Amino acid sequence: MAAEVLVAYTSRMGSTAEIAQAIGRELEAVGRSVVVSEMKGIDSLEDYRAVVIGAPVYMAAIEKDVANFVARHMDGLSRIPVAAFAVGIAPVDHRVGSVESVLEKLKAALGPVKPVAVTMFAGRLELARMSFVQRTMTGLMKVLTGDFRDWEAIRAWARGLPALLNL
Ligand SMILES: Cc1cc2nc3c(=O)[nH]c(=O)nc-3n(C[C@H](O)[C@H](O)[C@H](O)COP(=O)(O)O)c2cc1C
Repeated sequence: MAAEVLVAYTSRMGSTAEIAQAIGRELEAVGRSVVVSEMKGIDSLEDYRAVVIGAPVYMAAIEKDVANFVARHMDGLSRIPVAAFAVGIAPVDHRVGSVESVLEKLKAALGPVKPVAVTMFAGRLELARMSFVQRTMTGLMKVLTGDFRDWEAIRAWARGLPALLNL
């Protein structure tokens, strides 16, 4: 049987990937069949009844993969409900910008696709995982580092998805 839900993510350092997997597990726990996949590898949305899109924020921009994914799958996305989440440190460190502005950018990246839900989760920013350039940039920004992912908030959002996605 084809999966009902696709959780399509992009991730540079793995934290968004792990959030996507947690959302997938939660949807499976409430009886949905789910595929969790990096969005670049998705060829067709034919097999799915709904899509959840997840992407991190870098330098105040939603990863470009989202706009590319939407452009590639415009037909499919116009036929099924879409929910989206952004990941970054804005929820815990407002010096990088507001959550509201990230959500506006997320909606803009989705273009004509109107999501049934958008949200932003706090992510993980760890110095040990960064390149020299990234360390320098984040050092200059003096941002908080650590793993700020709130797994209960992530699971709670996932549990609300079937009703929103009409599943
Ligand atoms: C160079 C750099 C720039 C970042 N810029 C932002 C930003 O503008 N706003 C934000 O909320 N988070 C920002 N972050 C935090 C990332 O979004 C966060 O670490 C996220 O969890 C990374 O996701 P990933 O592990 O899936 O790549 C930045 C992180 C780095 C390393």
